[in-house]
Amino acid sequence: MRPPKDIKLLSGTSSRPLMLEIAQHLKVEPTEHLVSRFKDGEIRVQILENIRGHDVFIVQSTHPPADNLLELLLLIDAAKRASAKRVTAVIPYFGYGRQDRKDQPRVPISAKLVSNLIEVAGANRVLTVDLHADQIQGFFDIPVDNLFATPIFKEFFKGLSPETHTVVAPDVGASKRARAVARKLGDLPLAIIDKRRPAPNQAEVLNIIGHVEGRHLIIVDDIIDTGNTIIEGAKALIEAGALSVVAAAAHALLSGNAPQKIEDSPIKKVIVTDTIPTVWERKTDKMEILSIAPLLAEAIRRIHNEESISALFI
Ligand code: R5P
Repeated sequence: MRPPKDIKLLSGTSSRPLMLEIAQHLKVEPTEHLVSRFKDGEIRVQILENIRGHDVFIVQSTHPPADNLLELLLLIDAAKRASAKRVTAVIPYFGYGRQDRKDQPRVPISAKLVSNLIEVAGANRVLTVDLHADQIQGFFDIPVDNLFATPIFKEFFKGLSPETHTVVAPDVGASKRARAVARKLGDLPLAIIDKRRPAPNQAEVLNIIGHVEGRHLIIVDDIIDTGNTIIEGAKALIEAGALSVVAAAAHALLSGNAPQKIEDSPIKKVIVTDTIPTVWERKTDKMEILSIAPLLAEAIRRIHNEESISALFI
């Protein structure tokens, strides 16, 4: 089989700034395409140049509103019907990833349904960042590259000492991710918060496992949504004698008054990436936003050249 022709880069509305940044890193011109609305609000997309036989990458995070997901599906369909050789859905933030199991009666497995939609639309592969649960990869029957934001955080946190700093998992589910980050930041010790959710979007700290007194702490999570997980965690950690608490997460949903709550909390700093574009409108003085574009651009380059991307998992 002939290899695909050059890279063609497209995006939905919300991830356009990120796509343009990725294009700069790759030194490619974004593909001309239209994502607009009919008078009634229905989404209308059109690819305005020939992509026949090309390697097409469509960048779009699928955070709410659902139009973001729909734009992605329609762009995939348009690319497939325009005879692209290969279509990769580049999903910096995979929305609905938290609904990944049937944990209550009569609930959907939303992450599985979204995976099905992306595959049925015609994606040949998926490139994403910090999936809420690794096993979501298995919801797809196409290759899924799940990058971690760790290389970006590693650069920011370099030079920390195990003598003074500890990484904290904000709940038991986050301990695998936090342990990996702790190792990569120079074998820092790990502590774990035993968290309970009395209701959706609420967080309650029950216990802290590990030594936090007199230490500088870094809470590592995948998502900051209402901010309750990191805020309640930080309060409990400071009460337990921590010297300072910063938080790092790949995805900053920052719903409702999360930015103000974080500002008013004992958290010293919050480090996030720009996988969700609204982060720029919600930024406060305590927040540092790191660009995910270089990591995604390098992964796209390697996928296009059929090179291994395992070197990116540093
Ligand atoms: C939950 O399991 C996730 O990993 C995050 O901890 C959660 O989504 C954060 O949400 P919030 O900021 O609303 O507490």
